[in-house]
Amino acid sequence: MSKPRIRALFCALSLLFAGFAQAQDPIVIKFSHVVAESTPKGQGALLFKKLVEERLPGKVTVEVYPNSSLYGDGKEMEALLLGDVQLIAPAPTKLEQYTKKLQIFDLMFLFDDMEAATRFQNSPKGRALLTSMEDKGIKGLAYWLNGMRQLTANQPLREPEDARGLKFRVQPSNLQAAQFQALNAVPRKMAMAEVYQGLQTGVVNAQDNPWSNIYSQKYFEVQKYMTESDHAIGNYVLIANANFWNGLPDDIRGELDKIVEEVSLEVNRQAQALNDKAKQGVVATGKSEIIELTPEQRAAWREAVQPAWKQYEAEIGPDLIEAALAANKAH
Ligand code: LMR
Repeated sequence: MSKPRIRALFCALSLLFAGFAQAQDPIVIKFSHVVAESTPKGQGALLFKKLVEERLPGKVTVEVYPNSSLYGDGKEMEALLLGDVQLIAPAPTKLEQYTKKLQIFDLMFLFDDMEAATRFQNSPKGRALLTSMEDKGIKGLAYWLNGMRQLTANQPLREPEDARGLKFRVQPSNLQAAQFQALNAVPRKMAMAEVYQGLQTGVVNAQDNPWSNIYSQKYFEVQKYMTESDHAIGNYVLIANANFWNGLPDDIRGELDKIVEEVSLEVNRQAQALNDKAKQGVVATGKSEIIELTPEQRAAWREAVQPAWKQYEAEIGPDLIEAALAANKAH
C-alpha cells in the first residue's frame, strides 16, 4: 500500500475510533448544591447519584458538588442556564426572578408545619409552579423538603420587638428583606457560603435556617440563642436545564424521571427525622440556648410581618396565598 493510502486509512480508523469512543461516553450530570451532605438535600443528591449509576451504568454518571464547592448560590443558577451544571436544588426564593409566584414559600408564618407545606406542594396549584419556568429554560422536577426554619441570634428572640435593629442575614430575596424590615430588623442579603463568617465577624448578627443547616454549618459556635419559631418552610425546587433534560434520549430520561420520583419520596420521608436529629446535635453541644415560643408569641410575630405579606400579595396572587393557607386546615 502506498504511503498516502496508509495515511488515509489511518485517519479514517482514528475518526472511527474517536466516534465510537464518543458514542460510548456516559452522559455526565453535575449536581451542585450549597449545603452539607448530612442534610436532606445532601442525602438526596447522593441517593440520586447512587440510583442513577446502579440503573444506568456506563450511560450516565453523576458528579455531586456539596457545600458551595463548585458554585455558591449566587452563581449556580447562571451555571445551570449556561449548561455548566445540569441539576441544582435551590430554595424557591432563589428563583424569584423567574417566577414571582414561588415567593409564596417565603411568606413567614404561612404554613403551620411541614405537613401543611407538603399538602400545598402536592396540590394542583403547587405542582403548577414547578412547570412555570419552562419558557425560561428551567425544568422543575420535584419539591424536596428540608425542615421548618428557625431564628438564631446572640440575644433571645421571644417577641417580634426583640428583632429590632438586628442585622439579619436573609437569602437573596426582596420579600424576605421586607419581612425583616417589618420586624424593624436590618436585612442583609448574603449567600449561604458566607453566613458563618458573616456571623463570626459581626457583618450580620442573626439568621434563619432549618436545624439541619444550623447544625451542619456549626452556627451554634457563633449564635447563643435559637428560637424554635418554625416560621417558614425550608424547601427546594429540584431543577434541571430544560434543554438538557428534554434533549436526553427517551429511555434515559424516562429512567431518570423514575429515579427523581423515588429519591424525592425518600428525601421528603427522611427530612423531619434528619432535622430532629440535627436539633438534638445542637442541644448536645450545650453552646446555644433553645427558646420555645408560646402560641401568643408566635401569633405576635405573624401579625408583625403582615405589612410585607400585603405588599407582595398582588405579585404572588391572592388565590395562591388562599390555597396555601387552606393547606393548614386540611387535616
Ligand atoms: C439558605 O438559607 O440559603 C439555605 O437555607 C439554603 C439551602 O440550600 O438550604
